[in-house]
Amino acid sequence: MMKKINLIHLLTGAALLFTACHSGTATTAGGAKDSVTAHLPQVPDSANFKATIDGKPVGLYILKNKNKVEVAITNYGGRMVSLLVPDKKGALTDVILGYDSVKTYQKPKEPYFGAIIGRYGNRIARGKFTLDGKPYQLDINDGVNTLHGGFSGFFSRVFTAKQVNDQQLELTYISKDGEGGYPGNLTVKVSYTLTDDNGVKIEYTATTDKTTIVNLTNHAYFNLNGAGSKTITDNLLKIDADAFTPVDTTLIPTGKLQPVKGTPFDFTSFKAIGKDIGQPDEQLKNGKGYDHNFVLNKHDISQSVATVKSAETGIVMDVYTQEPGLQFYSGNFLTGKTNDGKGGAAYNYRSALCLETQHFPDSPNQPAFPSTVLKPGETYHTVTIYKFHNE
Ligand code: BGC
Repeated sequence: MMKKINLIHLLTGAALLFTACHSGTATTAGGAKDSVTAHLPQVPDSANFKATIDGKPVGLYILKNKNKVEVAITNYGGRMVSLLVPDKKGALTDVILGYDSVKTYQKPKEPYFGAIIGRYGNRIARGKFTLDGKPYQLDINDGVNTLHGGFSGFFSRVFTAKQVNDQQLELTYISKDGEGGYPGNLTVKVSYTLTDDNGVKIEYTATTDKTTIVNLTNHAYFNLNGAGSKTITDNLLKIDADAFTPVDTTLIPTGKLQPVKGTPFDFTSFKAIGKDIGQPDEQLKNGKGYDHNFVLNKHDISQSVATVKSAETGIVMDVYTQEPGLQFYSGNFLTGKTNDGKGGAAYNYRSALCLETQHFPDSPNQPAFPSTVLKPGETYHTVTIYKFHNE
C-alpha cells in the first residue's frame, strides 16, 4: 500500500513539474504575473483552421526545413501562426504570438497577429490622399486615421493558397477597385519560403490596372524568449538607422527625419529594449513606448538591418529587407486581458515586438518620403527575411 501511494505522489509530482515547465504562471521580480507558456513546441491543430470564410476555403499550411524549423501559415490574412526555431540547447521554441484557431483571429480588434498587411501598412493621416489630382477617402479605423488597410485590410482577407513544396507557400489575392477606398484592381502575390539557413523569406509582388498606392508588410509579433512568455524588454535590439520619423499624438509622422543620436531611439549598437523605454521623452510619450518608423541606412537585402537577441534562449533574429523603413513597435497595446493565446496564454503588455519592414507611414501625404505610388505596367516587388540562429 505504502509503495502505491509513493508511486502516485511521484507521478503527480512529475506531472506538476512537467506542467510548470510547459505552461502556468510565474511571478516576476516586480511581482507581476507572467504567463509562462514559453518553449511550447507545438504547431496548432490544423483542424481548428479548416473553415469557409467569404465563400473561400481556409486552412493551415506547414513549411519545414532539414533543421526541424517549422512555420505554420493560414491563408486567412496570410498569417504566420507559429514559428518553431531551436534555442541554444536545441529545443524548439515558438517565437511568434498567435491563436490556436482561425475563429480567434476573427475576433474584433484583433491586433493583426502575424498578418499580411495591405494595401497600406501603417497609418495615412485622416485616411485621405490625392492621386493625379483626385481625392480618395479610406476607412477611418484608428482614431482619426486609417491603419493597416482599414476595416477589411488584407489581415482579414482569404488568400488563395498553393503549397509549392515543403518549404514554400504562395498566396494570391485580388483586391477589387475601390476596396477599402483604394483605387485600382490590385493583384497581390505573397510567397513565404522557409530557407535551408533558417530564414522566413517573404516576397511580395503586386500589379494594378489604375494608379494606386501600395505598402505591404507582415505584422508578426516576436518574443525570442518564447511566445506567451514574459516581456521583451530584456531582449537586445540593434537597428541600422541613424534617423527615425517622429510622430504627432495620433502617430502620424511630422515629416521630419530626426537623428537618433543622443535620444532613446539610438539602437545603432545593441541595447536592451527596456533600457530607455521609460525616459521622459515626447516621442516615447506619443507612441506609449516605441511605435516608430526607423529610416534604414541600407536596405539592399545583402546585410541585416536589425537584430534581436534573447540571452535566455540564445535565439537571435536578423532582419533583411529591401524596404527603406522599419516600424519598431514594442507591443505597447497588448493588455494580457484575455487568455485566448496559443495554449491558453495571455499576451501581456510588451510581451512581443514587431519589426515591420515598410515604406514610411503617411507617405502619400509626404512628398519628401520615398513614393508608394504604383502605376499600371509597373510591378511592386519587395523581399524581407527574418532569419534565426543561436548565440
Ligand atoms: C502600429 C501600432 C499598432 C500596432 C497594432 C503597429 O504597426 O504602429 O500603433 O498599435 O501596429 O495595431
